[in-house]
Amino acid sequence: MDITDIEADITEVLFTEEQIAETIAGLARQIEADYSDDDDVLLVGVLRGAVMVMADLARELRLQLNMDWMAVSSYGSGTQSSGVVRILKDLDTDITGRKVLIVEDIIDSGLTLSWLLSNLRSRGAASVEICALLRKPLAVKVEIDVKYVGADIPNAFVVGYGLDYAERYRNLKSIGVLAPHVYA
Ligand code: XMP
Ligand code: MG
Repeated sequence: MDITDIEADITEVLFTEEQIAETIAGLARQIEADYSDDDDVLLVGVLRGAVMVMADLARELRLQLNMDWMAVSSYGSGTQSSGVVRILKDLDTDITGRKVLIVEDIIDSGLTLSWLLSNLRSRGAASVEICALLRKPLAVKVEIDVKYVGADIPNAFVVGYGLDYAERYRNLKSIGVLAPHVYA
């Protein structure tokens, strides 16, 4: 598949590379205002979608920080998240007493993050907050307290900048709406 085929799969670009960079910078300024250097915040990226957000956010933050990763899978039929979550890769870090900031690509139903939040809080972290690049307010099934949100988007399936459909499109520099013909 070459790049022109990929572009034909996107019906609308929601965020260009430049707009993503501005959004990430805005998030970083808010986070810097809430954490000081001696907090030594631990960024926890949720694999695999959050890889790009983590890489850019971490470099934008003028803070002492550590990075770790978790991989989780939501059991459920098809593309719907069920809220029953299984850990595929756990943290390598003991988070007791640590200030943890979960870094996510997108909040859809909120079920995955809701589970992750209580899981990490139960480990005795000093604090656990969430930073998500995107949120679909129309899809939310559980209310979770998300401290940092880059942008709210319509309830459409989006790809690019880490977000995938069937593991493709993660490498797009922009974020766009996936054309229905791709999953039809
Ligand atoms: P829940 O529903 O638990 O799930 O909030 C969030 C996870 O679902 C994936 N997701 C998407 N992935 N485009 C994607 O590429 C989308 O529009 C989309 N909506 C949800 C994503 O992995 C997220 O972490
Ligand atoms: Mg994800």
